Amino acid sequence: ERNKVAVISEQNVEMPSQKVLSTKDGAVYTTSTGAPVAQPYAAQRVGLVGPLLLQDFHHIDVIAHFDRERIPERVVHAKGAGAHGYFEVTHDITDLTCASLFKKVGNKVRATVRFSTVGGEAGSADTARDPRGFAIKLRTDEGNLDWVFNNTPIFFIRDPTKFPHFIHTQKRDPQTHLKDADMFWDYFSLNPECIHQVMILFSDRGTPDGYHNMHGYSGHTYKLVNASGKFVYVQIHLKKVGGAKTLTDAQATKLAGENPEYGIQSLFEDIEKGNFPAWDAYIQTMTTEQAEQFRYNILDLTKVWPHAQFPLRPIGRLVLNENPENYFNEIEQAAFSPSHSVPGLEPSADPVLQSRLFSYPDTHRHRLGTNYNQLPVNAPIVPVANFQRAGPMSFVSQGGRPNYQSSLVPLTYKEKSYEHVQHETWLGAAVTDLSEINELDFEQPRALWQKVFSDVDRAHFVGNVAGHLGNVKSAEVKARQLSVFAAVDQSLSDRIAVAIGAPKVQPLKAKPASEAIRFKAFA
Ligand code: NDP
Ligand code: HEM
Repeated sequence: ERNKVAVISEQNVEMPSQKVLSTKDGAVYTTSTGAPVAQPYAAQRVGLVGPLLLQDFHHIDVIAHFDRERIPERVVHAKGAGAHGYFEVTHDITDLTCASLFKKVGNKVRATVRFSTVGGEAGSADTARDPRGFAIKLRTDEGNLDWVFNNTPIFFIRDPTKFPHFIHTQKRDPQTHLKDADMFWDYFSLNPECIHQVMILFSDRGTPDGYHNMHGYSGHTYKLVNASGKFVYVQIHLKKVGGAKTLTDAQATKLAGENPEYGIQSLFEDIEKGNFPAWDAYIQTMTTEQAEQFRYNILDLTKVWPHAQFPLRPIGRLVLNENPENYFNEIEQAAFSPSHSVPGLEPSADPVLQSRLFSYPDTHRHRLGTNYNQLPVNAPIVPVANFQRAGPMSFVSQGGRPNYQSSLVPLTYKEKSYEHVQHETWLGAAVTDLSEINELDFEQPRALWQKVFSDVDRAHFVGNVAGHLGNVKSAEVKARQLSVFAAVDQSLSDRIAVAIGAPKVQPLKAKPASEAIRFKAFA
C-alpha cells in the first residue's frame, strides 16, 4: 500500500510551471526571475558616459540569455516544419499486434509530426531536391511510439557505417565550404546500391509540393508481435489523402529563391484555414516463411515489397489539425527515435535500423541534453517511474521515491506483454560486406523507370539528372555514374549521356543474383 502511494503521489506532483500571459491578458515586462523592470532598453552605467555596472542583473540577464539562444541544429534534417494532430485506429489488427494503441478500432492518440529536408542547414530552402523526413510521435498509454519515416520507401545505404560518409558528400566541401557536384556523384557512382533511391530523388518526387503533400514510409522492415508472442514482418506506409503532389525542377528552383520557407508557410496556412492534411496508414506484412521465399532480402533497405505480392492493409488515419504555439518548444525540441517504441512493435535486424536505434537518443543527449525526454513535447502522457535521477536541467526528478530498487518501497513491474516464441537465429560470418552489388539491385529501379514512370516522368528525370550531373568536372565520375544508370536501363543512360554531352557507356558489371545475401530467419 505504501509503495502504491509513493509511486502514484510522486508522479502526480504538480510542478510550478511558468504562466505565459499574453499582452492582452496584462503581461508586464520582467527579468527572468520575475522582477518588474521599468526601463527595458536602458543599461546602467557610471555617469553619462562611463562603463557599465556589474550590478545590472537585468542587462546581463538579457545579453547572457541571448548569447545562449541557439542549440545545435540537427546534423541532418536541420530544416523542417511541424504540427500536432491525432492518429486514429480505423481497422482491427489485434491478430498481429498487442500494442495497446491498436487494441480497439476508434482509439485516438495525440500526435506531433515534424517534416524536414535532409542535407541543408536550418535556413536552407524547403523546396531543395532531397528526400523528406516524416517523423511522428504518437503518445500512447504504453509510452511514446515514434515513427521516424521518410517520404521514400527505400534508402541510399544498407550498411550503416556508410551513413556519415554519404552525408558528408551531400553537404559542404571541407575546403571550399561549397556543395560540390563532383563529391556528390563520386559517392553515388562508387556506391551503386543507392541507385534505387537516386532514381526517386531525381524524379519529381524529389521536390514535393510542400511538406504535407507527400507519402511517408517506414522503409525498414519492423516486426509486429501479437499477444501470444507470434510475429510478422511489417512495412508501414502513410498515403497522403488526395495523393502526393510534386513540383517540377524549375518550379522548385524558382521557389527556393522567392520563398525558401514555402513548405513551412503552406503547412501553417493550410492548418490555420482548416484544410487539415491527412494520411491513411497501411501495413504490408510477411511471415518468416514468405520472407525466406521472397526474391529480395527483407533486411535490405534499398528494396521495396511489391504491392501486388504484399497488398496494403489499412490500419489508421493521421490528421494534423493544430499548429504549434511555440515552434522552438514544440518542434525544434522534439526528439524522435525509432527506439522510442512500445510492446507489440519491434525492430527487425536490418543493420541500418539497428544503428539508428543508437544514433537518435545519442544525438538527442548532445542536442537537447540528458533529460530530453522530460521536455514537455517529448514527455510521455503516462507516468515515468525508474531509477534515473538528476542530470542537467532535470525538472521531473521523481520526487522522494528511492533511487534504487528498494526492498522497503519497491517499484512494481508490469507482466511481460508476451512470451517470445522463437523469432530468429543468427549464425555465420560476423563481418560481411553488405554493400556488394548484384543484379537484384537494378531490378526495382528498372521497374520504376520502365513501368511506373510516365513519358513525362522519364523526360523530367533525364532533365533533373542532367542539370546536376552536367556540373561534374571529372569525366571519370560522369562515366561511372552513366554505367550505373546503364545497369538500370541502357536507354536511360544514353539519354542522360546525350543531355550532358558525354560519351555513352556500357553497364557496370554486377555479381549474379544468385550471389546476393539471402534472408534466413532460422539457421
Ligand atoms: P505499383 O505499381 O503497385 O505502385 C507503384 C508505386 O510507385 C506507387 O506507390 C506510386 O505511388 C509510386 N510512385 C510513382 N511515382 C513514383 C516516383 N517517382 N518515385 C517513387 N515512387 C513513385 O508498384 P510495385 O509495388 O510493383 O513496385 C514497382 C516500383 O514502384 C518499385 O520498384 C519502386 O521503385 C516503386 N515503389 C514501390 C513501392 C512499394 O512499397 N511497393 C512504394 C513506392 C514506390 P502512388 O501511390 O502515389 O501512385
Ligand atoms: C534525423 C541519423 C537513416 C529518418 C536524424 C538525425 C540523426 C540521424 C543523427 C538527427 C536527429 C536529431 O537531431 O534529433 C541517421 C543514421 C542513419 C539514418 C545514422 C543510418 C545509419 C535514416 C533513415 C530514415 C531516417 C533510413 C527514414 C527511414 C530521419 C528523420 C529525421 C532524421 C525523419 C528527422 C527527425 C526529426 O524531425 O527530428 N537521422 N539517420 N534516417 N532521420 Fe535519420
